[in-house]
Amino acid sequence: MNRREFIRTAAVAGAGLLVLPSGVRGGENAPSNKLNVALIGVWGRGLAHYDSLASENVVALCDVNEKRFPEAVKRFPNAKTYVDWRKCLDQKGLDAVVGCTADHTHAFIANWALNRDLHVYMEKPLGIAVEEARVVRATWLKKKAKLATQVGMQRHAQQNFNRVRELVRDGAIGQLTAAYAWGDRQIRRPGYLPAEGQPPEGFHFDLWLGPSPDHPYNPGYFSGGPGMNCLSWNMYWDFGAGQIGDMGSHTMDLLWNAVDAGLPTSAEAKGEKFNPDVTPVECESHFDHPANDWRGPIRVSWYQGGAMPASPKPYVDLKKIDHGAMFKGTKGYVIADFGSRLLLPFGDDSDLTYYKGRAKDAVLPPLGHFQKQWIDACKNPSLKTACDFEYSGNMIEQLLLGLVAYRVGKKIEYDGAAGKVTNCPEANEFLSRKYRPGWTLNG
Ligand SMILES: NC(=O)c1ccc[n+]([C@@H]2O[C@H](COP(=O)([O-])OP(=O)(O)OC[C@H]3O[C@@H](n4cnc5c(N)ncnc54)[C@H](O)[C@@H]3O)[C@@H](O)[C@H]2O)c1
Repeated sequence: MNRREFIRTAAVAGAGLLVLPSGVRGGENAPSNKLNVALIGVWGRGLAHYDSLASENVVALCDVNEKRFPEAVKRFPNAKTYVDWRKCLDQKGLDAVVGCTADHTHAFIANWALNRDLHVYMEKPLGIAVEEARVVRATWLKKKAKLATQVGMQRHAQQNFNRVRELVRDGAIGQLTAAYAWGDRQIRRPGYLPAEGQPPEGFHFDLWLGPSPDHPYNPGYFSGGPGMNCLSWNMYWDFGAGQIGDMGSHTMDLLWNAVDAGLPTSAEAKGEKFNPDVTPVECESHFDHPANDWRGPIRVSWYQGGAMPASPKPYVDLKKIDHGAMFKGTKGYVIADFGSRLLLPFGDDSDLTYYKGRAKDAVLPPLGHFQKQWIDACKNPSLKTACDFEYSGNMIEQLLLGLVAYRVGKKIEYDGAAGKVTNCPEANEFLSRKYRPGWTLNG
């Protein structure tokens, strides 16, 4: 039995599902059952993973900024350090990777790691172009029986996500017809920053740019505090997907969890004037989704940067919810933020006799600790993760398609199986992005 098979066997045994052969020692927490993990991007959001990774062997630390190593090495003294994630992924004996780098490298790191048969936890968003989401999802779907994946949408562990799902799914608003999510974060940037100064010693700016087109160094891209620095670069087309990749990932998740949708058949969007450097602040996008086995066709909408769906009643001020979701059914609305929800029945027959709340034992169980859910699934891939690369890949592909529709200024018809826009050839060039020579998504 090799080390990996041993970890899995022990994890299954730890879950009480298997009797270990005699001579095989250790339960779930024995040293030999720990995962060998690489943490890529060790500061900022990376810091938020230190505690959940403390139960495992962190054997590799990678950051383009060498200044970040001392703190990380203090916490994980047995780890080797790297500045180039491509070299890090080739370290022998790795089981899993946690990626906390800038958004324009997420799909690359995720796909390369999956190609090396590594489990992956990737911070959101999974990619910043439609093609990136598709490639990573496809790679994972081929390996899902043995590899666990999770996108860092940890708000999903809030119990309200399940409560909203139950209301919608169980018919509290009748038949679902439309769902809306919005976020009001407004970060305005005029354009890429001009050249200013030199990268500090130990900061590998060229590796930070990675696959994205060349841009001059400017310290303004790195001026934010830990976990907030993403706001210094994520509005630029070459480094992020604007609010879609930022709070959009979390907020659309609240909606996505309740509607059981796949890829849309169309997208249309409108927003502020196009800026070739910067993604739009104010924008709204709308997507048509076919019926599934429990509901009819629905329209899903995303509003950002001040654009808002209409409130169902003047006494409900949706603007008081900075990031929220609303579900419209034939008999009412559910309105939610991340932690709470409001049921608003409407119409003369909305007496709620058609709806019965769940018995206590039928209520959806709590997800538990979001990072730990992934760690458990790495050790026992028959366990599911809530935000795996299929669920999250579909979600971000939809949102990114909205940016494509925004760029062409037309309603686009989408063939999700083929990954092609069928009615607007010029839209297809925006499904992917151009990479610097020497960088490939499928390495
Ligand atoms: N899940 C959440 O709630 C949440 C919260 C904040 C940020 N994030 C996500 O985390 C990611 C990082 O955000 P941040 O604010 O920490 O950004 P950041 O710019 O501070 O980067 C984090 C760390 O990654 C390193 N890094 C960047 N690119 C790298 C590369 N190519 N290779 C190796 N190291 C690299 C940086 O030097 C830094 O130490 C973003 O994708 C962001 O969307 C998620």
